[in-house]
Amino acid sequence: MERKEELCVYKNPDAPVEARVQDLLSRMTLAEKIGQMTQIERVVTTHTVITDSFIGSVLNGGGSWPFEDARPSDWVDMIDGYQNAALALRLGIPLIYGIDAVHGNNNVYGATIFPHNVGLGATRDADLIRRIGAATVLEVRAMGAHWAFAPCVAALRDPRWGRSYECYSEDANIICELTTLVSGLQGEPPKEHPNGYPFLAGRNSAVACAKHFVGDGGTENGTNEGNTIVSFEKLERVHLPPYLNCLAQGVSTVMASYSSWNGSKLHSDYFLLTELLKQKLGFKGFIISDWEALDRLSEPFGSNYRHCIKISINAGIDMVMVPFKYERFIYDLTDLVQSGEVSMARIDDAVERILRVKFVAGLFEHPLTDRSLLGTIGCKEHRELGREAVRKSLVLLKNGKHVDKPFLPLDRNAKRILVTGTHADDLGYQCGGWTKAWFGLSGRITIGTTLLDAIKGIVGDQTEIIYEKNPSEESLASSEGFSYAIVAVGESPYAETLGDNSELTIPFNGSDIVTTVAVRVPTLMILFSGRPTVLEPTVLEKTEAVISAWLPGSEGQGMADVIFGDYDFEGKLPVSWFKRVEQLPLNADADLYDPLFPLGFGLN
Ligand code: GLC
Repeated sequence: MERKEELCVYKNPDAPVEARVQDLLSRMTLAEKIGQMTQIERVVTTHTVITDSFIGSVLNGGGSWPFEDARPSDWVDMIDGYQNAALALRLGIPLIYGIDAVHGNNNVYGATIFPHNVGLGATRDADLIRRIGAATVLEVRAMGAHWAFAPCVAALRDPRWGRSYECYSEDANIICELTTLVSGLQGEPPKEHPNGYPFLAGRNSAVACAKHFVGDGGTENGTNEGNTIVSFEKLERVHLPPYLNCLAQGVSTVMASYSSWNGSKLHSDYFLLTELLKQKLGFKGFIISDWEALDRLSEPFGSNYRHCIKISINAGIDMVMVPFKYERFIYDLTDLVQSGEVSMARIDDAVERILRVKFVAGLFEHPLTDRSLLGTIGCKEHRELGREAVRKSLVLLKNGKHVDKPFLPLDRNAKRILVTGTHADDLGYQCGGWTKAWFGLSGRITIGTTLLDAIKGIVGDQTEIIYEKNPSEESLASSEGFSYAIVAVGESPYAETLGDNSELTIPFNGSDIVTTVAVRVPTLMILFSGRPTVLEPTVLEKTEAVISAWLPGSEGQGMADVIFGDYDFEGKLPVSWFKRVEQLPLNADADLYDPLFPLGFGLN
């Protein structure tokens, strides 16, 4: 091992970060620099690809696993294999592996699945979210990844948007408070931390990513990847503030949004990416593009890719999530630099930022996975944390009187209870999108506890539970009768554009299932959704109680804890609940505000 003073500066862990950055940059060829700006998907990644193209980053998209039923150690083998290939190159620059750990490390079988952001928004609990970050980061590092594409800090301005559940709230102030996931993932920045400078606490922390910059939640009609038509003043008031909180915590990366601002595509908007984020706000980390976002700058898709590369890199994109046609990307960008259409100064700025994050992340000192962390994946403490988050996320919308006392909490020693509905025993539905697969799945997709499991675990052994996914006439007409019914309905999983929806009625005839039961049996309705849905007046009339559970994830016991009275409700709506979709967008800062339930509503 060379003595430290003999090490060249960039290899010396005691040298200042900026000195290491400049030393390494000065040694790099154009090909090595452009390689650092190139992020590819694991499905096209081989050790040869990494070494031939000097690839600086790899990711897996939602649902892209090493192979079906891959276990965490299989992920480590894959990622460390890539890493060793990168380290074997002349300069030994470690690659950085990114993954969408957006509610726990949700691609990985057995990982703890926390409530999606909209449910965390209902908790208003910044410290809880920091702790979720601190748990998630261990489950990310344990399987080999270094970088989580989280938190999404978009404002939920219109629930017709397919990514509503990835938002903490419609209200910028609430989102700002809840950006603490950054500190959870990266570690607490030192007090003297220069705002906007990337920061990571060390070995067991990971790079975070504030996304999607900026205004993605404010598009017309909630259209995904659409156009946000607002004044700069409103953009600054409604959509920008959470980024300031993320920068203040030293967030190391920011992901640009597919959407446009007043017709200008974010990925090619120099003013927002460079003048605002980098110059005015002083962001010193790097901006990554979204998936194939450069291709989407042109109509038809990818038609003039060379031009799209030019306008996005010159606008301020530093690393490109290509993610498949990397040879074309590298060829065109090289050509653009050699023709002077993209300056070497712009390339150097991008590479400096990428290297800065890799140095700060400690990847040069610890490029390979600490396999002792494997035991943290889905561990008991993390699941208890998930259970706490579920408890705090539930919002009680109605709690009527029954036999002269509040219907909730339910009697856990009731004689006979009916549990029914599409979402009563479906872990995949409970977790929602971005779980195991990109769009989510139905059924026992990972390790976890469904609502039915949780009810079985808490009621007395004299209590008879009748479970039917779809309530049958005969069971409802049965002579014995039920003390009460719990009816679980809601949305099936979705992600991104697939989730755009302008009707927002409860799928699978959820409203009918509820009323069919509620007219015969005292009923608690639990709604599993990533956003407010239509709530028919009859549903609100006929049920004794209604709970919004959002998308709670793997730890279903948290619901039973509250429903049966071990804990009280404390969730508050993070978003306005509309009466009719014709009202949308409907936000609390509007002049005319007539919601079914207002922002902040929640009974206890
Ligand atoms: C997706 C999403 C982004 C995600 C990325 C990688 O299209 O827009 O949130 O991080 O691609 O999966």
